[in-house]
Amino acid sequence: MKEQLNSLRASTIKLVAEIVDPKALNETRTKILGRKGELTAILRGLKDVPIEERSAVGQLANEIKTELETEFDRKETRLREDLERAQLALESIDVTLPGRRTLLGRSHILNRVTQELVEVFSGLGFQLAEGPEVEIDYYNFEALNMPKNHPARDMQDTFYFSENVLLRTHTSPVQIRTMEKRQPPVRVICPGKVYRRDADVTHSPMFMQIEGLWVDKRVSFSDLKGVLTAFTRDYFGEKLGLRFRPSFFPFTEPSAEVDIQCVICGGSGCRTCSFTGWLEILGAGMVDPALYKFVNYDPEIYSGFAFGLGIERVAMLKYGIPDIRLFYENDIRFLSQF
Ligand code: FA5
Repeated sequence: MKEQLNSLRASTIKLVAEIVDPKALNETRTKILGRKGELTAILRGLKDVPIEERSAVGQLANEIKTELETEFDRKETRLREDLERAQLALESIDVTLPGRRTLLGRSHILNRVTQELVEVFSGLGFQLAEGPEVEIDYYNFEALNMPKNHPARDMQDTFYFSENVLLRTHTSPVQIRTMEKRQPPVRVICPGKVYRRDADVTHSPMFMQIEGLWVDKRVSFSDLKGVLTAFTRDYFGEKLGLRFRPSFFPFTEPSAEVDIQCVICGGSGCRTCSFTGWLEILGAGMVDPALYKFVNYDPEIYSGFAFGLGIERVAMLKYGIPDIRLFYENDIRFLSQF
């Protein structure tokens, strides 16, 4: 029996040395040291060993069991360490690789132009005001002297959430919201996004405007011309021509549309200016006294002007961009030029 035990010891040590997989090691441990394992099977013969040798054989069996258990434990630890080392090798960082460059972001060209315009008008004494993009019919149309079924509404078809809630078609509702809150003198500019059912090289369904409003005692059309001329000179320089064309808006009287000479063709005519040499950048006029009744201003005391300027059009002129859609296509090659 001693031989059987010694031979089991030797064969197990050899076997354990060859095992490379933790699962196989576990199975072998059960096969040899488990309750129904080979060692138990050998010890079943202990009752046939002469009584005087039995204690020595029993002691040998215990020693071998302890030794083999230690052997299995040691191997298990080594296999686990090997596995961890292999995983680490896979995940390790190669510190000699060149680093990845972080690309710096920048503000969108339209936000930058908006910022520049706000600065120019701030220099002319205008304060910043804002209003919501989701607007109610009352502010977008009704209080701007465009009652339901007014034909001027057709030119500004937009996206409706319900009969009375819509995406604002212009920044003019901020005029009413501002006048409701403040008494004259009021001198504000209101930049923001607006929406219309429009799309071609100079029209986008979502675009940006800056509204200007100045109401005080004795404000006249010449103040409007003065402010817009000062703005054009300041922003575009002396050279570009400015043109006032008579127009109609239900909320201003008289009204004008203002064009700037096209920088893309220098005024000779191109696709961007529809071969006219001019690009319309804003609508303007004297605030129609009809609006004052909506905001409780006295039209006998106060007068004012307002204008609404298309920010994309200004950016197109300033940077020679021929197609408005480029602003919204998110092509990084275009955007990173500015
Ligand atoms: C208006 O939106 C008036 N609210 C402007 C106004 C304000 C008049 C205050 C009087 C007093 P209009 O629809 O013309 O007007 O638009 C004003 C400017 O926005 C245009 O001159 C043009 O520069 C720009 N614009 C209009 N539609 C689009 C569009 N779809 N895409 C890009 N720019 C546009």
